[in-house]
Amino acid sequence: MGVPVVAAVAAAAAIIFFAFTAGQPAAMAAIVEHTFIVSQVNMTRSCKETLVTVVNGQLPGPSIEVTEGDSLSVHVVNKSPYNITIHWHGVKQRLSCWADGVPMITQCPIRPDHNFTYRFDVAGQEGTLLWHAHVGCFRATLHGALIIRPRQGASSYPFPKPHLEIPMILGEWWDMDLVKLDRNMVGGDFLDNPTAMTINGQLGAPFNCSGIVKDGFVLEVETGMTYLLRVINAALFTEFYLKIAGHKLTVVAADANYVNPYTTDTIAIAPGETLDVLVVADAPPGKYCMVAVALQSPKPDQQLPFFMTSGTVQYSHKNGTSGHHNVAPVVPDLPDQHDTMTTYYFHGNLTSLRQPQVPVHPDEYFFITLSDGSICRHGRQSCKRSGSNESILAVAMNNVSFQIPRSVAAPLLESHYYHRNNDTASIGGVDLFMLPNSPPRVFNFTDHSLVPDGPKEAQLEATEKRMVGRRFRHGTAVEVVFQNTALMQTGSHPMHLHGHDMFVLAQDYGIYDEVKDVAKYNLVDPPVKNTVVVPRLGWVALRFIADNPGVWYVHCHFDFHDTRGMAAVFIVEDGPTVASILPPPPDDLPKCNHDDDGVFNELEPYEGKDGVSQS
Ligand code: C2O
Ligand code: CU
Repeated sequence: MGVPVVAAVAAAAAIIFFAFTAGQPAAMAAIVEHTFIVSQVNMTRSCKETLVTVVNGQLPGPSIEVTEGDSLSVHVVNKSPYNITIHWHGVKQRLSCWADGVPMITQCPIRPDHNFTYRFDVAGQEGTLLWHAHVGCFRATLHGALIIRPRQGASSYPFPKPHLEIPMILGEWWDMDLVKLDRNMVGGDFLDNPTAMTINGQLGAPFNCSGIVKDGFVLEVETGMTYLLRVINAALFTEFYLKIAGHKLTVVAADANYVNPYTTDTIAIAPGETLDVLVVADAPPGKYCMVAVALQSPKPDQQLPFFMTSGTVQYSHKNGTSGHHNVAPVVPDLPDQHDTMTTYYFHGNLTSLRQPQVPVHPDEYFFITLSDGSICRHGRQSCKRSGSNESILAVAMNNVSFQIPRSVAAPLLESHYYHRNNDTASIGGVDLFMLPNSPPRVFNFTDHSLVPDGPKEAQLEATEKRMVGRRFRHGTAVEVVFQNTALMQTGSHPMHLHGHDMFVLAQDYGIYDEVKDVAKYNLVDPPVKNTVVVPRLGWVALRFIADNPGVWYVHCHFDFHDTRGMAAVFIVEDGPTVASILPPPPDDLPKCNHDDDGVFNELEPYEGKDGVSQS
């Protein structure tokens, strides 16, 4: 099955058309076309063969390279047995919410043996993003780089022109079937672990197969040259520290927005984040180890096995052959998997290179707690919690956990589009539950003693499953403070907003203080991000302008949180001008797949198999 697909890849290389834009004779906007054939192939990464779902037979999938202002047209041909959508993570999708690729929010998924062409412009952004499947856990194998170069060419980079640019995708390898993984998570069981960590799909050391250590990713460099690493985190569960022995790393962009150059020896990158990083080959010629270590919160949080992967930076000889084959690589000090300070400072040290227009006074303000919670089974009002069988664990924002009811038969965006003048209460015939502006209870949010299971937090856990979201008038300046909690666990959360970038104004440990902490806001050069890491035992404050009409998913980019409801929809209404009205859906937008009882079926029904009640 794999062979014909691989053969098709060569034929499906990117096609680029150029079109002259009227009135701008100098600017050539291209239409960049790709064909993505989604199919299952057998791959051997660990000791055994695993059937994986990939694009064009490759893992990672093909890189998309465009110039700022280009249009993309990606033909997705679904030859897999699953429903699929592809999301263009971080692409702003101005007036093209239809192409955002979120099942049942912006589109019905592409059914097996069906096609859909995603068409959208990539404008006003430069740097590295990624594309990935947005169905179940398929992001683990269906992902690739999306690279946006400046229209004026590489010499217009606001940093020294690199000799080479290399996508570096950090990910996980799962021997486990990803459909089973998703089913387990929806059912409240999240004890599954990946097999290994990967760089560009390679396992690397220390993973070994029957005692033989795997060769990892190799970066060939020449002395004195500068390299641009386009680092992407495509993992489902893992935030990484990345380090190269003997070399400094200079971050020049994050989430396709330039930052003031920030030089460090360790970068931190959470799922959904992307970083453009310069590395200069200025060490004595030789071999240097690069390591990516998976972070986790210290005990008493639940502990996963220690995971890391390695690759090699290899200096080549002037005559073109690479030497040093028998030399052992220089190994860096390993980052500590339990060190959550380094990522905190790393993210806190990023500032925008170009001063963005930050809204000075927000029109709307949210204080949102991120926490674990629990829902009584069988629709009961009260039950035993904290891990008891009477309840199921969920994750939530302000104690509401996102779920699209099974009765919703059409994507929310479609319902919204055809009933745009409706009241604010419903969408597609279903009540849109208003995301509360603050949590139902105030407590000592970051109190460590909430971590071990116990009756103490039972009242705080009470969570409801809802189709939760908020509607914003076009142009609303929104401020969100995400307050992390220690309820049952203390992990961080990479919160991702579709269709908009966010200004990250401040972060700190402990509990946000509405009066005092506003003074810490950076309104001058805050980093501009699509994924914002909410620190462990702390908070982050951000603003964005809701000026892109559509229905936008906002969620934690850890898959086990997204799947279990740490999510909402932000609905942005049309603006007053023609240029601020969402155009009609494309004609070929997929139709939904309803099973026998007429109910929509994604990969699995949205409802868990365990009888969690629908509201
Ligand atoms: Cu990268 Cu909603 O996703
Ligand atoms: Cu999370």
